[in-house]
Amino acid sequence: MDRLEARHALFGREPELRRLREAIARIADGAGEALLLTGEAGVGKTSLLGQAAALATGNVAGGASGRGIRVLRAAGTQFEAEISYAALHQLLHPCLGEASRLSPLLTGALNVALGLGEGAAPEPLLVATAVLALLTATGGPVLLVIDDLPWLDAPARSCSAWWQDA
Ligand SMILES: Nc1ncnc2c1ncn2[C@@H]1O[C@H](COP(=O)(O)OP(=O)(O)O)[C@@H](O)[C@H]1O
Ligand SMILES: [Mg+2]
Repeated sequence: MDRLEARHALFGREPELRRLREAIARIADGAGEALLLTGEAGVGKTSLLGQAAALATGNVAGGASGRGIRVLRAAGTQFEAEISYAALHQLLHPCLGEASRLSPLLTGALNVALGLGEGAAPEPLLVATAVLALLTATGGPVLLVIDDLPWLDAPARSCSAWWQDA
């Protein structure tokens, strides 16, 4: 019997999915780029981001299976909007074990920013540099999927703006 898989179907989103597939193929080939997804509440942004993550990890047909894209995700939330670097914590949680590869200066800045170490608040630029260093130290392409950007805490939002230019 044929099986109809409808669990993750997104209706009428072929143009957006095509653009996501193209962007993910470029990322898999080593290019860097930023895509901003905008739209009213309920229009399907979170769903499309879920598809982007699935495409990058190869969990859906047409995904970049085996191309080694690492997907890191975070979402801004109202109750974390005032907590500095809360979104960075979400984003980097899966790769914090690799932070020891960084220089002591960068590791220290990252640990303090994420509340994992003591010390004076580090310069935001140092934190952003530490994050970039961590993401590149792991080798291979990385897709950062950030939902609900307006609710991101301000320091994490500054970092994300800086990476887009890096
Ligand atoms: N293209 C689509 N086809 C079918 N259902 C969709 C589609 N896009 C979104 N939905 C559904 O609409 C609801 C809102 O989508 P969501 O992605 O949470 O929107 P947003 O993040 O923009 O607020 C969810 O229940 C989701 O499953
Ligand atoms: Mg949403």
